[in-house]
This record gives sequence, structure tokens and C-alpha cells, in this order.
Amino acid sequence: MAFRNLQAELKLWQQNQKYARQIMRKHTTQQFGEFTICTGNAKYLKEIQRLHLHLFRDPIPRWLVWLYRFRASDLMTIALDKNGKVAAYQCFMMNEHEISQHIIHEVYVAVSDSYQGKGLATALRRFSIESYDFGNLLAISTVARTNDIKALRSAQKAGFTFEKMSVKPPGQYLIKHLSIMR
Ligand SMILES: CC(C)(COP(=O)(O)OP(=O)(O)OC[C@H]1O[C@@H](n2cnc3c(N)ncnc32)[C@H](O)[C@@H]1OP(=O)(O)O)[C@@H](O)C(=O)NCCC(=O)NCCS
Repeated sequence: MAFRNLQAELKLWQQNQKYARQIMRKHTTQQFGEFTICTGNAKYLKEIQRLHLHLFRDPIPRWLVWLYRFRASDLMTIALDKNGKVAAYQCFMMNEHEISQHIIHEVYVAVSDSYQGKGLATALRRFSIESYDFGNLLAISTVARTNDIKALRSAQKAGFTFEKMSVKPPGQYLIKHLSIMR
């Protein structure tokens, strides 16, 4: 069982490494109140892992950590507070069934406790949409888990629309269509 899990993780990691390399993204920086929003950097990974463990009571899966060690700028968006600490982060990956449709999946969005309710998750999502827009991706997907009204509201405010119900994880599968390069 453990070996099979390892094999599955390795396959996901390889697939994601391969496709993340091809993603076209704008690498800009944006100010949102006291926060600086930018594309990810592996030097913040340990801090993000600690914050994630605190917020989700579960670690980031190790294959994703390995992926972000190499692909943080392609697959992560972060917000830094005025002291340069991670205030919020957003993580992306490629799901096997979405690769052929050129859809990138937002797997996590999370905001440090003291900064929640200030519109930061929505700002991160808007920033990422803009950064992936007019590139080679067609859409961004996400799942707002059942009863997670804050995640749902912030996704809708950023422009995601309901597409279908999701079984795994249980919730609402939302999508944001992107413009393609001409
Ligand atoms: C979900 C999460 C990312 C939201 O971050 P945030 O920065 O507080 O979100 P925003 O402020 O951008 O937007 C939240 C929206 O939900 C609304 N909201 C909050 N509580 C609500 C409630 N009980 N009922 C209805 N709407 C509510 C807010 O009012 C806001 O919408 P508005 O601006 O239109 O008023 C944050 O709560 C978090 O990090 N949670 C822990 C990690 C997690 O569960 N992440 C999501 C799954 S990956």
C-alpha cells in the first residue's frame, strides 16, 4: 500500500514538473494595502508549510512540497506583510484529468489568522488570474469545500463561477475561464 502511494505521488510529481515548466505566467508584484502580492519563491516554503499545518491541521503532501521547491514561481502566489512574513499563500497544481483541457487547479488558498476577513484571499486570487491570463492556460479551477462559505464567497468575488458538484473533495467545483494569447 505504502509503495503504491509512493508510486502515485511520484507520477503526480513527474507530470506536474513536466507541465509546470511550460506554463506562461506574468511575474509582477502588486501592493494590496499593507501587503505585497507576488509569485512564489521557494525560500518561503518552510514558512508556508508551518502556516499550512496550523491552518489545515495537516501538512502539505510531500510530493507537492518537492514540486514547489522547483516550481514555486510557476505554481504559487504569496502575500507578504510589512515585515516580510508570509501573510497568505495560494498553491496550484495540474490535475491529471485537467491537463488536456489546459486547466490549472488551485489546490489551497489560505490566510494567516490575524489577516483573515480583509479581502486578502480574494486579492490573491485576482492577482493569480491576471498573472495566468493571456498565457497558454484556458482556465483555473478550484473546489470550495462543503460549508466553507468564506472560500466560496472569495472565489466568486474573484470571478469564479459554479460548474458542478465535486465528490473528491466534497464541495463545489468552480472555474475561472482565462483569455488566450492571440
Ligand atoms: C477561506 C480563507 C482563505 C478566506 O480568506 P479571507 O482573506 O478571510 O477571505 P476574503 O476576506 O477575501 O473573503 C471572504 C468573504 O467571505 C465572507 N464571509 C465571511 N464569513 C462569512 C459568513 N459566515 N457568511 C457569509 N459570508 C462570509 C466575507 O464577508 C468575505 O466576503 P465579502 O468581502 O463579500 O464580505 C481563510 O478563511 C482561510 O485561510 N481559512 C483557512 C484555510 C482554508 O480553509 N482555506 C480554504 C480551502 S483551500
